Amino acid sequence: MADTSRIRPKGGIVVLDFGSQTTQLIARRIREQEVFSVVLPCWTPVEQIRALEPAGLVLSGGPSSVYDPGAPVCDPAVLRMGVPVLGICYGLQWISHTLGGQVRPAESREFGPAVVEILGASPLFAGLPSRQKIWMSHGDHVVSLPEGFRQTGQTETTLAAIEDPARRFFAVQFHPEVRHTEHGREILHNFVFGICGARPNWTRAGFVAESTAAIAERIGGEQAICALSGGVDSTVAATLVHRAIGDRLTNVFVDTGLLRKNEFEDTVELLERRVGLNVIGVRAAGRFLARLAGVVDPEEKRRRIGNEFIAIFAEQAREIGRTSGKPVRFLVQGTLYPDVIESVSVRGPSATIKTHHNVGGLPAVMPLDLVEPLRDLFKDEVREVGRELGLPEEMLTKHPFPGPGLAVRILGEVTEERLAALRQADAIVNEEIRRAGLYQQLWQAFAVLLPVRSVGVMGDARSYGLTVAVRAVTSEDAMTADWARLPADVLERISARIVNETPSISRVVYDISSKPPATIEWE
Ligand code: XMP
Repeated sequence: MADTSRIRPKGGIVVLDFGSQTTQLIARRIREQEVFSVVLPCWTPVEQIRALEPAGLVLSGGPSSVYDPGAPVCDPAVLRMGVPVLGICYGLQWISHTLGGQVRPAESREFGPAVVEILGASPLFAGLPSRQKIWMSHGDHVVSLPEGFRQTGQTETTLAAIEDPARRFFAVQFHPEVRHTEHGREILHNFVFGICGARPNWTRAGFVAESTAAIAERIGGEQAICALSGGVDSTVAATLVHRAIGDRLTNVFVDTGLLRKNEFEDTVELLERRVGLNVIGVRAAGRFLARLAGVVDPEEKRRRIGNEFIAIFAEQAREIGRTSGKPVRFLVQGTLYPDVIESVSVRGPSATIKTHHNVGGLPAVMPLDLVEPLRDLFKDEVREVGRELGLPEEMLTKHPFPGPGLAVRILGEVTEERLAALRQADAIVNEEIRRAGLYQQLWQAFAVLLPVRSVGVMGDARSYGLTVAVRAVTSEDAMTADWARLPADVLERISARIVNETPSISRVVYDISSKPPATIEWE
C-alpha cells in the first residue's frame, strides 16, 4: 500500500537527476529557501512530473557525456511542459544537444574554482556582480547554441551560461548548489522566485500540521508500532505519529546489551517522561549475547543482531495485538530522504560496504504497512521538525550510534567482560569531550576495543592489558569524514582516565585515519 501520508506540496521545484554527486544538494538549497523540492530520476515519465504541478524544473549534472552510449536522458517532452527549466552542467549539455546545439569534449577537463563574467542582463543573475567566483566540474562544453538561445556567461576558457528567455530555459555550466560558488544561493533564489514565481510552501510548522493530519487519516483507528533506537530519526518519526494517533502507537525500545553506559534507562526516561511517548522497554541483553557467542566476523554479527531484533520486535507486536484485541497493522520507520533518493538513483544503489542494521526485514516477516513520515526530509530538516515538536535539544543533537551498537566496536568476539570494559572507556571519551565543550563540533567520538595486548607498567608491576583506540571525527553526512584534531590535553585526560579506571586496558591509541580510505567505525 502506498504511503499516502507523505507531504508533497504542489508548486515546488522538481530536480531531475542525471547522476551527479551534488544532485541532493540542489534540492536542499531550494528547500532552505522554504520552497518544496523533490529529486526524481531523469527518466521519470512526464505525466508523473506534471502531476506534482511544479513551478519549475532543474536538470542536474552527471558524470556522463551526452555522446556516451547509454548516456542518461529525460523525455524531451519535459522541455514542452511550459514551465521554466534550469540546466546545471550535464543538464546544460543535454538541453543544448537535445535542442540542436553542439557539445564537444573540452581541451582539458575543468575542475574546481573559476571566475565567470556575466554578459548582459539576465534574470538568472539579477542583482549580482558581473564577475563571480564559481565552481566547475565538467569534461564537455557547448560550442554552438541551439536556436533561440544566447550566451550569458563566460569563463576564461568556457561558455558558462546560456538562456532562451522566451521559452524560460536557463542553463549554467557551473554548480550553483555547492558552497564554493560565491552567489550560488542567490542564483537559485532568482530562478525559484524571480523566474518560476514559486511561493514559500515548505515550513516546519506547515509540515508538522499537514503530516499529522495525513498520518491520522491513513492510520485511522488502527494500532501502530515503532522501533525506537534512541536516535533522532526514530524519535522524531514516533513523536509525529504520536501527535496523530496518541497511544495507539506503541514504541518498542530494546536493550540489546550493546548500548552505551546508562543509555537504556536514560532513553526510556526521556522518551516516556519528557516526550510523553508510550514506550515498552525490552531487556534482552542475554539473548543477544548468546547469539553473538564465538562470532568474530562483523557482517555475521550484524546479521545475527538484526535477526534477533526482528524476532523480539515481532513478539512484541503480537503481544500488543493480543492485549489490545486489535492486531497491529502499521509499522513506523524513520527512513530519510537521502536513503529514498539513493534507492532510485540513476547511479544505482551504491556498492554495499557494510549492511546497515534496521528493521527493514520486518514487513517480510509480518504483514505490516509502512508509515515513513520523514521519507521526504533531509537530516537537518528532521532536526528542525524535532524542534518544532518540542523535543529536547540533547536528543536532537545526539551523535549517531550504529544499530548493532558496541558489538561492532569490539574487534573479535563480544563477551560480557569486553562489553563492560568498552562501555567504561566509551563513557570516559564522551565525558571528556563534553567537558572540553567539543561535543557539538564532532560528528562522533567513541572508543573501540582492540584484540591486542601489550606490555605496560602499572605501579611497579608488569601489566599485559588490552588496547583501546579513541576515534573522533568531523563530518557533514558520514559519506566522508576527517579525524578530529583534538587538543593534546583532552587526549591526555582521556588516556589517563581510561587506563586508571578500566583495569583490563593498559594502552590507548588515537585513530588518525580519515574516510576514505578508512570508515568511521572499525567494523
Ligand atoms: P562507516 O563506518 O560506514 O559509518 O563510515 C558511517 C555512519 O554509519 C554508522 N554505522 C551504522 N549505523 N548500523 C547503523 O545503524 C550499522 O551497522 C552501522 N555501521 C556504521 C556509523 O556510526 C557512522 O555514523
